Amino acid sequence: MSDSHSDALVFFGATGDLAYKKIFPALQSMIKRGNLDVPVIGVAKAGWNLEQFLARAQDSLEKHGSGVDPGAFKKLSSLLRYVDGDYNDPATFQAIRKELNGAQRPAHYLAIPPLLFATVIEQLAKSGSAQGARVIVEKPFGHDLASAQELNRILHATFPESEIFRIDHYLGKRPVNNVVVFRFANSFVEPFWNRNYVESVQITMAEDFGVEGRGAFYDQTGAIRDVIQNHLFQILCNLAMEPPVRIDSETIRDEKVKVLKAIRPLEANNLVRGRFRDYRLEKGVAPDSKMETFAALRLEVDSWRWKGVPFYIRAGKNLPVTCTEVIGRLRKPPIVVRDSVLTQNYLRFRISPEMTIAIGTTVMADGETLKGETVEMVASRHPRPEEMEAYERVLGDAMAGDSTLFARQDYVEEAWRIVDQALKADTPLYEYEKGAWGPSEVNERVSPAGGWQNPNATDVEDYRVAVPAG
Ligand code: BG6
Repeated sequence: MSDSHSDALVFFGATGDLAYKKIFPALQSMIKRGNLDVPVIGVAKAGWNLEQFLARAQDSLEKHGSGVDPGAFKKLSSLLRYVDGDYNDPATFQAIRKELNGAQRPAHYLAIPPLLFATVIEQLAKSGSAQGARVIVEKPFGHDLASAQELNRILHATFPESEIFRIDHYLGKRPVNNVVVFRFANSFVEPFWNRNYVESVQITMAEDFGVEGRGAFYDQTGAIRDVIQNHLFQILCNLAMEPPVRIDSETIRDEKVKVLKAIRPLEANNLVRGRFRDYRLEKGVAPDSKMETFAALRLEVDSWRWKGVPFYIRAGKNLPVTCTEVIGRLRKPPIVVRDSVLTQNYLRFRISPEMTIAIGTTVMADGETLKGETVEMVASRHPRPEEMEAYERVLGDAMAGDSTLFARQDYVEEAWRIVDQALKADTPLYEYEKGAWGPSEVNERVSPAGGWQNPNATDVEDYRVAVPAG
């Protein structure tokens, strides 16, 4: 373990949903890979003791992890500590200090609502536990531009930027990072991946489930803040960024910020918001809620490479499938043969559930007529059980002090700048049926030329474009 590696992990919100679904499984996997051997101190106000906390960890691994691994769980149990207490009470932080047992470089992971950040950070500083420490913060990072700036101010009062790790777990997904590798490690891609060849880019993040008991959280958040301003903007940056001149964290992050800087604020008429039927009946959702569960928007990246190419993004709950996918449509070649021969070339990146990179090309269709059809050249594979999950990767990187896969201050503020005015514009909310591709208004108002391409199966046959007989 290097000197800069964290020598303890303190996680606030230890009895919460995120810890249950993501953090315990990540911790067990880190142990299995030999990447975790420091005390892990859970903190919450639940009236629990260590025994109950361990039982929760075990339950989490059974329900949300790959099951309990006897050896790794034994080790995890020996590393876990639990501190119960109020975040406003200095005694809670004295108890944490005691459990830290002289650790020089603790990592404090705030898996708690942002409203509590200021209190926790202040108490950490007062109790001496912020000294030499780093802080890991969960998304959403603020609610709008002003609140994100305020959060940054609070964090910077105690921690330097280099010790602040803002989580966006999409940055921990290999298929998301593979977009960058595919673009820059293949010399045939860059010549066409620009405004000269690309007609439009669309990014879809569809989920076939609703708010799943997270109504109270979701109703304060909505689709734009929950996944578009962060996860899907990260994908957008990977699609649109210039090649970094070095591969250190700051140079890579500089290139991503440059993409956001080139995007003008989202205009209300380039946004369609939707809400699935009966959303307001969900537990925790206000009966007069105006929150969206679906959004589709159109942006432009005003850079030399992308000027004039529309980027469409849509995300929603209760859509027909669970899938995240990018389609970059290429312009049609000039007509030298009958139009019926031409289909539209495209590049398809599927981020999940499996990782796919496909190039849609035009070939002659079967039969004797002169007709074209799209055939995909596909590279695809499903994640293997032993692969690292995003949370394991980002937690491990934060503890090792590698900032590459985290959102920098300027990045989060630029991302909020883009959506800020549209979020406040009180745009109309259209209802859609559960299982539909959002409200029908999307197709009329925010839709790429040729329409949205709905991911519907892992079978490439489904991507063949119908060519009219001619
Ligand atoms: C989270 C959102 O950040 O990402 C959820 O809060 C969403 O609403 C989830 O379902 C999707 O993550 P993944 O890794 O399952 O695609």
